[in-house]
Amino acid sequence: MKSTSISSRRKSIAIALKQCRQNTLDLLAEVNNSIFFKQAHPEFSPIGWHFGHIAFTEAYWILEHLASLSPIFTEYHCLFAADGIPKQERQNLPTIATIENYLRIVRSKTLGYLEIAPIDKEERLWQWLIQHESQHTETISLILQLHQQRNYTNSVVAFGQSKSSLSLENQANTLPDQYSEMVRVKAGEFVMGSDALEAQDNERPAHKIHLNTYWIDRYPVTCGQYYQFMASGGYQQRQYWSEVGWQWLQQNPVSQPLYWSDSSDWIDHPVCGVSYYEAEAYAKFTGKRLPTEAEWAKAAMDASRHCNHDRLIGHTSPVTAYSDQSIYGCQDMLGNVWEWTASWFDSYPGFSSYPYPGYSEVYFDHQHRVLRGGSWATSSAILRPTFRNWYHPGVRQIIAGFRCAKD
Ligand code: AVJ
Ligand code: FE
Repeated sequence: MKSTSISSRRKSIAIALKQCRQNTLDLLAEVNNSIFFKQAHPEFSPIGWHFGHIAFTEAYWILEHLASLSPIFTEYHCLFAADGIPKQERQNLPTIATIENYLRIVRSKTLGYLEIAPIDKEERLWQWLIQHESQHTETISLILQLHQQRNYTNSVVAFGQSKSSLSLENQANTLPDQYSEMVRVKAGEFVMGSDALEAQDNERPAHKIHLNTYWIDRYPVTCGQYYQFMASGGYQQRQYWSEVGWQWLQQNPVSQPLYWSDSSDWIDHPVCGVSYYEAEAYAKFTGKRLPTEAEWAKAAMDASRHCNHDRLIGHTSPVTAYSDQSIYGCQDMLGNVWEWTASWFDSYPGFSSYPYPGYSEVYFDHQHRVLRGGSWATSSAILRPTFRNWYHPGVRQIIAGFRCAKD
């Protein structure tokens, strides 16, 4: 690589680091002492931990690993390492100001090292680090939302001004057929995954896959459509649920998505805050099924423009609001809500761990389902048709909806 291109790579990494950190600091400014240290849900660490973990990860990978500097803030190692202590024990944190300072000091050393770093050899790790922080900022925004939810009985209040007081019940039958449109994806090969420098270990290597012809929803399933499932006793009828899904429902007796609102304002927004099992049950109710990860990925080909993302709006948007389409005509693929797929999170053939097995490999345990696409809180650094997210199928605290498919 010529030195000119090295300096331009350096510049673009510096810009990406800065953009990403601005998002993190914007969120930090929204946080106060009453929630910083508190676990909003057993699945998630306190918000404060995520900020410390972001700084720790940068210090560990850039300053120690790449720059070979001796460890700093060693007292934080156990607290902020992902495998240090259990989530419930992460409430005993330094103050907000101390963690802010930790972030700032690590970052200034990182930028100092970037000036002299052999970026041509290290770029993959820098790209990884930016995407690591981006994923934690999304987690921070969804934890913020979990805290806020406790202060409201009706999510409309949490999401801003109500446009009308009409209830979904009165409006659900007026939903245009447009929302149920499906597109046909012709049988054939396509390339799954990516070998790009930005690709995570779990996206690599790119490989060809053949799929038979299938159909997939043009849009994510809307609240109006999901209401039909609820209104016809979807949560009470065993027939729509898989064995494991029904078990989950008995242990978690819910009757509507998290953050559900009865207002018709959300009728054309994607349903959000559902577990994999609820998505699966809805699909069965409509005589469809969830798409496999490969089906989702093929349908997303050439989706390039991001729809609702980066907390630009701060909540979901109508599924028809952004006109960008994949070559097959699917909309809202990159943003708005993550979408559950039917596939377990697993390695692609030829996988190799990067930068450490705990990043992806330990989750290839057939306990996690793949989500694709990204949400309104996802940063553009990780919004792409090949990016893979994964969660336990019972988790509904994330910004996740789904679309359906059929043979
Ligand atoms: C892929 C979003 C589930 O947040 O646990 C962050 C990403 N891995 N630090 C997570 C991740 C290590 C991961 N998710
Ligand atoms: Fe992490």
